[in-house]
Amino acid sequence: MPRTTTAAPAAPAPAPAVPATPAPTSGALTGTAGDERGAIELRGIWKWFGDPSAPVLRDVSFRIPAGSFVSVIGASGCGKSTMLRMMGDLARPSRGEVRTGGHPVSQARQAHEIGFVFQAANLCAWRSVRRNVELPLEAMKVGRAERRERALAELDRVGLAAAVNQYPAELSGGMAQRVAIARSLVTEPPIVLMDEPFGALDEITRDRLNLDLHGLWRRTAKTIVFVTHSIPEAVLLSTQVVVMGRRPGRIDRTIDITLPDERTAETSRIPEFFEAVTEVRDALFDVMGRDL
Ligand SMILES: Nc1ncnc2c1ncn2[C@@H]1O[C@H](COP(=O)(O)OP(=O)(O)OP(=O)(O)O)[C@@H](O)[C@H]1O
Ligand SMILES: [Mg+2]
Repeated sequence: MPRTTTAAPAAPAPAPAVPATPAPTSGALTGTAGDERGAIELRGIWKWFGDPSAPVLRDVSFRIPAGSFVSVIGASGCGKSTMLRMMGDLARPSRGEVRTGGHPVSQARQAHEIGFVFQAANLCAWRSVRRNVELPLEAMKVGRAERRERALAELDRVGLAAAVNQYPAELSGGMAQRVAIARSLVTEPPIVLMDEPFGALDEITRDRLNLDLHGLWRRTAKTIVFVTHSIPEAVLLSTQVVVMGRRPGRIDRTIDITLPDERTAETSRIPEFFEAVTEVRDALFDVMGRDL
């Protein structure tokens, strides 16, 4: 079998108005693998905004081994961004805990061990490309010469060596996202969280960036969590695809992608790729049908 499917966790009981006891975990949390630097562990995560009886996320438990590339897919509003933000300590769970490398996630964020890339590049218009990438190093009080050297090396890695002195207004959308990726990597974080980073790009640019990102992931062995609405993109990039349901948001299923490690333009033409795309699509339609 080219891939395996993890059965959907049993449907949790209806949400109580306010959960009275620690929420049971619905995923496999075993051993000490969560202690690896770069591993992410969600333990019984609930999130509500205002009304606890209408949680946005309900009892999400999940472990991402260090060095994985995990894509998250699900209907709009199911809580993908909310979950990702909590993985990066940009938002707090209402209940439950996120741990990275065996510690509370806040430690990793404070140590600049988590990089972020969002749908919009969010570059500083008045700073050159190089100085945009230097920003996180400034926050870490890294000296000027080292900042410059590391930013240039990172920009080289994402193919922007020729654009280091340009300003954001002079960049294409794809170039701007490359700058955002370089900025997220310059602190050498073991974890990078990406929320639809290529969603606003044309398909050809997106295909190219996907393959570049995959190559970068293979070279650097980072843990990447990647939110997308594109099933082929999720399959092409990932070691595992997480399918979320909504009302309330939850992890419905995880699908291991066992395509060859090296993903190229050819990968999207092999039968195993189509089989995996079909499997993820069926899982997504299935959960969306149940959520109607
Ligand atoms: N700060 C907030 N205050 C109130 N409600 C919020 C807040 N942030 C998110 N929500 C709600 O939480 C739910 C999940 O939002 P989230 O942005 O996580 O969805 P998503 O899966 O990322 O959707 P999309 O695919 O459209 O980006 C939505 O119903 C949204 O309205
Ligand atoms: Mg979102």
